[in-house]
This record gives sequence, structure tokens and C-alpha cells, in this order.
Amino acid sequence: MAPSTAGAITLTINGEKHTLPVDNRTTLLDALRERLGLTGTKKGCDQGQCGACTVLLDGRRVVSCLQLAVAAEGREVTTIEGVADGERLHPVQQAFLDLDGFQCGYCTPGQICSAIAAIEEHAAGWPSAATTDVRPEAGIPPLTADEIRERMSGNLCRCGAYVSIVQAVARAAEDSARTAGRTDVADVEGAA
Ligand code: FES
Ligand code: FES
Repeated sequence: MAPSTAGAITLTINGEKHTLPVDNRTTLLDALRERLGLTGTKKGCDQGQCGACTVLLDGRRVVSCLQLAVAAEGREVTTIEGVADGERLHPVQQAFLDLDGFQCGYCTPGQICSAIAAIEEHAAGWPSAATTDVRPEAGIPPLTADEIRERMSGNLCRCGAYVSIVQAVARAAEDSARTAGRTDVADVEGAA
């Protein structure tokens, strides 16, 4: 008898548990959009190249079109629908709104999820391909426009809103650093 390709899985999405039967080959993106109605996460290329489908998995960014839903069981999935605090927008969402970090908006949920994780990665001292001094003693690299562009390079914007996107990420990172009492990104205003 051929092995079954279907089963029931339980996903924790934005703090809520959802149990659903799925074909084991279903991607997390299709489970979110087609099975659970969470259409904030967008499908662009469906092959890992555009970043429109970016969500957070245990706080780390992933492209959900390349992630099987079954592999997300037991992990915390955060989508764009879950980043705000009730009526209060996430600081990255607010920065995108304030600084017009979008045009048509199709890439925006992925950009915002990616930016949330990118800011946390930077704050944790993770270097990027644009970091010039990667020695541990060099500390957290300044979050320059080049750093932001590199760290956000997995998220394409067909409208070309990149200048405003970089400014929005810079603003949100600066706010976040201030809140944490850090000064290492205090010079990013106007980074774009
Ligand atoms: S839809 Fe997933 S990377 Fe493009
Ligand atoms: S705002 Fe239109 S694709 Fe980015």
C-alpha cells in the first residue's frame, strides 16, 4: 500500500493554535493563505526569490513558499496579521506608514516581517555581507544604508520603493535602539 501523503497538523500562528488536515506537500504559504485565510502573506514568485511570502518562524525570517507546513509544527509562526499590539501598530509598520515605504503594497507584508527580524539580527550583533569589520571585538556594526540594503536584499519591490523602505527600516531600528538604550544606530536618520 502506498504511504499516505496527508495528515492533520497543528500550527501555532500569531499565538493561536490551528489544527487542519493537509497534504504533507503543502507549503506553509499555501496553508496560511488557502487553508486559514491569512492572506496578508503574499505569493509572488513561489520559488524563494522575491521575499513577498516572508514570515517569522520562532522569530527568524523564512520564505514561507519554501517551507513545508508540516515542518512548522511545534514552532511559533508570526505573520503580518500578528505583528501589531492590538490597535497599536508595530514600530516597523508605523515607520513604513510614516515614511511611505511602499507604493502598491504587495511586497510590504514581507518587507515588514523581514525588517523586524533584520533589526533584531543587527541588534544581536550579527554581521552581514556588507559589514566591513566582523571581528567580535568590533561590536555591533553601524546600521548604514548599505547595511540595511544588504540585510533586506532578499525582499524585492517591483514598485522600486527602496529609498523609502531603507529610510523606514532605519527609523524603526533607531527607535528600537533608543528604547533599548543603545547608541550604535543613532546616526541612521536619513541613511538612504
Ligand atoms: S513567493 Fe516566496 S520568495 Fe517569492
Ligand atoms: S510596493 Fe509595490 S511591490 Fe513593493
